[in-house]
Amino acid sequence: MSDESEPGQQSRTDTILGWLVAITFIVLLWNIIQMPRTVLEEREPLMFFHYSMGLIVSILAAIRIYWWLREPAPEPPSELPVASFGFNRAILFALLLVFAVETVIGFVYAWGAGHDVVLFGVHLPAFIAKSEPLRMSMGYFHSALGFYYLMLFVIWFAFGVYQKIRYGVGLKRLFPGSSV
Ligand code: HEM
Repeated sequence: MSDESEPGQQSRTDTILGWLVAITFIVLLWNIIQMPRTVLEEREPLMFFHYSMGLIVSILAAIRIYWWLREPAPEPPSELPVASFGFNRAILFALLLVFAVETVIGFVYAWGAGHDVVLFGVHLPAFIAKSEPLRMSMGYFHSALGFYYLMLFVIWFAFGVYQKIRYGVGLKRLFPGSSV
C-alpha cells in the first residue's frame, strides 16, 4: 500500500494504526497522571484500568512495528534529505518499541509487587511470585522507560521544528496522520 503513497505520505493502514496508538496512549497518559494524585485506598480501579489500557497501547504499538517492518518505508517529503528523515523515523521507531516493551516489564513489576492483576475485569493468576528484588528492578525500569518516552517526544518535536526552520518542511507530520 505504502509503495503507492506520495513522497511525505504513509499508507492508510499506517495512518490508522498511528491514530489508534496516539488516542489510546492519550487515555493512558490521563490515567498515569491521575494515579499518583489519587489516595492509595482509592487507587485500585485506576491501576486495573492502567493494566488493561497499557496492554492495548502495547499491542497496537507491536502491530504498528510489525507493519513497519513488513511494508516498504515511506518516501521522505521532497524538501527533506534522506538522512534527516531517517532520524525522524528512528525516533518514532524507538518510541513504538518503548510502548511495546513497557507492558512486559509492567506485568513483571505488578506481580513482583504482589499486585492483583485484573485485565478487562478478569483477575489473572500470578504467573510470577511476589519478590522485592523484582518489584524494585522492574519498578525502576518501568519508571525509567516512562521518562524515556517523554524525552523521545521532546526530541521528536524539537527536531521537527528544526527541520521546519532548516528545510521548510511542514509541522503536520509531527502529529498523527498521513504526513510523515
Ligand atoms: C504502554 C504501556 C504502559 C506505559 C506507558 C506505562 C507507564 C507507567 C508510568 C509512567 C507509571 C507511573 C510511574 C511509576 O510509578 O513507575 C506506571 C505505573 C505502573 N505501571 Fe505501567 N505502563 C504501561 C503498562 C503497564 C502494564 C500493562 C502493567 C501491568 C500489567 C503496568 C504496571 C504498572 C504498575 C504496577 C505501576 C505502579 C502503580 C503504582 O504503584 O502507583 N503498566 N506505568
